[in-house]
Amino acid sequence: MTDQQQRMLVLGGTVYLSKAIAGQAVARGWEVAVAARGESGEPPEDVEFIRIDRSDDKGVEPLRGRSFDAVVDVARIPAQVGRVLDVLADSVGHWTFVSSISVYADHSRPDSEVLEPTGPDDEDPDIELYGRNKVACENLVRERLGDKAFIPRPGLIIGAGDNVDRVGHWPLRIAEGGEVLAPGRPERLVQWVDVADLASWILDAAERRLSGTYDAIGAPVGMAAFLEGIADALTGLGVTAERPAFTWVPQDFLLEHGVVPWAGPDSLGLWLPEPDYDGMTAHDPGPAADAGLELSPLGATVERWWRANAEAPELHAGLSREKEGAVLGAWHDRERGFAVPPPDWKQPQ
Ligand SMILES: NC(=O)c1ccc[n+]([C@@H]2O[C@H](COP(=O)([O-])OP(=O)(O)OC[C@H]3O[C@@H](n4cnc5c(N)ncnc54)[C@H](OP(=O)(O)O)[C@@H]3O)[C@@H](O)[C@H]2O)c1
Repeated sequence: MTDQQQRMLVLGGTVYLSKAIAGQAVARGWEVAVAARGESGEPPEDVEFIRIDRSDDKGVEPLRGRSFDAVVDVARIPAQVGRVLDVLADSVGHWTFVSSISVYADHSRPDSEVLEPTGPDDEDPDIELYGRNKVACENLVRERLGDKAFIPRPGLIIGAGDNVDRVGHWPLRIAEGGEVLAPGRPERLVQWVDVADLASWILDAAERRLSGTYDAIGAPVGMAAFLEGIADALTGLGVTAERPAFTWVPQDFLLEHGVVPWAGPDSLGLWLPEPDYDGMTAHDPGPAADAGLELSPLGATVERWWRANAEAPELHAGLSREKEGAVLGAWHDRERGFAVPPPDWKQPQ
């Protein structure tokens, strides 16, 4: 950076990743503004808050006439991205658009083409359109910003301040100890990126004027190494005295018994069935690493999550203890050869 203070606009900045970016930017000496409606949360300290609503053209007028050395946007609706580009694209030095690995059409292989984009003016927030909307947003940013555009495509983002907490089940459950239901094969790969590492890389990119599109993800790790790593971190923090006993239950049995992969009620975070999601857990971390993404050890990620989230987690994934116990019980019955009746079995009269 030059001696003159650089100006950054974070579109968002009130929650999780975009808030981490704004907070780290302040700590690095940027002059930071965040622009949002102010509904999701509070921006970090020492930033200018610009109240906007990207739902219509009028709502982004407070940005007109402003200029920034760098912009970071986390939006997911093409029309909302286009609206802000119309007002700002010609007065910005570098533009990061945070996309997602959900842009890929085929999650069974890591080298898939991207989905067909939705239209540039589309406003539909349906989660089913998330990947296609992100492709359309990416295209808008590339068209308007050219080689000023930096587009990281994160995989699952975990860490401090996680407001969707799809992974929180694991540290909380492991901290309780005892027999813990572990999904699928111990060697099944999982991948994630730490929110603080991603924020730091996005700021490096803005400072170095890095452009291009990258999968933003860490190296694949076996599910067992992931769960044992969490247990190690919790032991190190003094949270657990005893190590949990993981019972590995095959994926088909879990699916038959209503355990849901990845996200939502009755789910186990990070677990994705094979082979349909083999690509989702095998993205190449090399290009992002070569372009400067530095990854924290898992223990540091778990520690930051624990300190920030464990007291009042907002769990959006995870099995209840009741459901976990029922599935483990059924699995042990099966292992003992106990005849488990099929779901449509009726007591003979
Ligand atoms: N979490 C993951 O595992 C994951 C994985 C891959 C990619 N991603 C991507 O990573 C990014 C995460 O961003 P994030 O953590 O900062 O969370 P986010 O929930 O995407 O944040 C959205 C931000 O935009 C603002 N906003 C929403 N609607 C608005 C509107 N109509 N007008 C103006 N501002 C509006 C929100 O603030 P207000 O509500 O206050 O307006 C909030 O600050 C996203 O791009 C997501 O798609 C996430």
